Amino acid sequence: MDLKETLLKYGFHFESDTDTEVIPKLAKFVHDSLNEDLGSDGGDKQLEGAYALIFKSPYYPNELVACKRGSPLLLGVKETGDMRTDINVESDLSAEGHHGKPKEYYLASDANAIVEHTRRVLVIEDNEVVHMKDGAVHIFKSDSDKSRRLLRPASVQRGLSTLEMEVEQIRKGNFEHFMQKEIHEQPDSLTMTMRGRLIRGGEQKAKGILLGGLKDHLKTMRRSRRILFIGCGTSYNAALAARPVVEELSGIPVTMEIASDLLDRQGPIYREDTAIFVSQSGETADTLQALEYAKSNGALCVGITNTVGSAIARGTHCGIHLNAGCEIGVASTKAYTSQIAVIVMLALALGDDSLSTQQRPNAIMDNLYNLPSKVRDVLKLDKDMKELAALLMDEQSLLVFGRGYNYATALECALKVKEVSLMHAEGIVAGEMKHGPLALVDETLPIIVIATRDASLNKQQSVIQQLKARKGRLIVMCTEGDAEFMCPDRTCRIIEVPKVHDCLQPIINIVPLQLLAYHLTVFRGFNVDQPRNLAKSVTTQ
Ligand code: AGP
Repeated sequence: MDLKETLLKYGFHFESDTDTEVIPKLAKFVHDSLNEDLGSDGGDKQLEGAYALIFKSPYYPNELVACKRGSPLLLGVKETGDMRTDINVESDLSAEGHHGKPKEYYLASDANAIVEHTRRVLVIEDNEVVHMKDGAVHIFKSDSDKSRRLLRPASVQRGLSTLEMEVEQIRKGNFEHFMQKEIHEQPDSLTMTMRGRLIRGGEQKAKGILLGGLKDHLKTMRRSRRILFIGCGTSYNAALAARPVVEELSGIPVTMEIASDLLDRQGPIYREDTAIFVSQSGETADTLQALEYAKSNGALCVGITNTVGSAIARGTHCGIHLNAGCEIGVASTKAYTSQIAVIVMLALALGDDSLSTQQRPNAIMDNLYNLPSKVRDVLKLDKDMKELAALLMDEQSLLVFGRGYNYATALECALKVKEVSLMHAEGIVAGEMKHGPLALVDETLPIIVIATRDASLNKQQSVIQQLKARKGRLIVMCTEGDAEFMCPDRTCRIIEVPKVHDCLQPIINIVPLQLLAYHLTVFRGFNVDQPRNLAKSVTTQ
């Protein structure tokens, strides 16, 4: 607002109400009025908040300038000759590659946009300025936040990194949409997430969990006074789904924090805390800022992300990579199930050392092995979910009741339905039903009740009875074989899902609900992969 007011006073005209428009106008203003000083301080020091910018101007033909603060920015380098693996930036970014072959450069905020051209990238850091001129690249760095004086390029010396992803991952293959592809990929993404981390055991070997990225920090984590899970949206929901098993196996109290709310409250965080940051992209601005906050309070900070080299992966003391493969649809699906699987493995790792001698952890590990095949089974409900979506496509609203392990499933189902199908949906912890939501129930409003077998099954049965007594229009998700027992009068629509260990059941239960959200969106004619008003990585607060 301040910058815009100043620019208006100087006669600039604005065509939109976006913050972004202020930036090119400011650049023009700086160019016109401070031309001589540009080389030393630029105009970006006047900007607040997160940004990644690329400037191109007719005043500087064959030149391009890029800078960033908070938001991600990658520089891709493509060369046809042999590339050495660890080279300093200055020599690597000259106009010609080895053997005199020319280079191509790419700037992007996401690796997905670069990978089909090159896998060699440099992650640009805050306060760095990339200057491309006549085919060569120089990277300048401000010496401090205060003066933002630009130093010579030699000050930035680090090697390029290699993106570990395949071009196939950014293609839709035989699917219509990325969301659909990513839902159906879950048996494979879960296999990748668990690969090398679940130790099978054998004649002499005990079963166990190996989380390489945490091995030097597990002891500290076990001694923590509290574990905080911090995230936004689906990533928050994934941590919520796994919270009960972390509490149970570690014996450590667990607090859930939505990143923005933690920041708004400046909630207390202590040196004795372990703060776990869950983020698919690893770039979410609120989660990133909460990480800085937790670090400044001395907590051990652990990252769970799906993006190697992301700001959260780099900024945490240690972490676990999801290995779920690149997720392109704005609606997070396969990252959600992999996040739950990773946190369950973390709970096992935090538990007693003699895991394999205990019945329950042992059973959880056995179920983890079989999880991909169970997900393959539940994906067979695709046709049923399409039929259900056809029935629900004209509804205004949908309620989803869950509890215990599946409270998060209710929240996540509602989030998916809302964000892609643009239908109002609300996830409700079933224990709260009588404290308000019951008033909404009538014969028209569709209600999904998640009632798969676990310790709260009896309570969910009673919820179903109470909803039926109010003539609720029920869709009941139950364990295979339980249909008759859950709804003897056959007045409910039933979704039967395979049974797995209670703490892993949320991974199975969400799959048909993801399919429901997907088909609802297609029937309602909305953009599946890029829902209205949303971005894949929310890099601004
Ligand atoms: C999920 O479907 C949403 N697009 C959104 O809630 C997302 O999970 C949230 O923005 C957090 O993103 P992150 O996991 O990349 O941090």
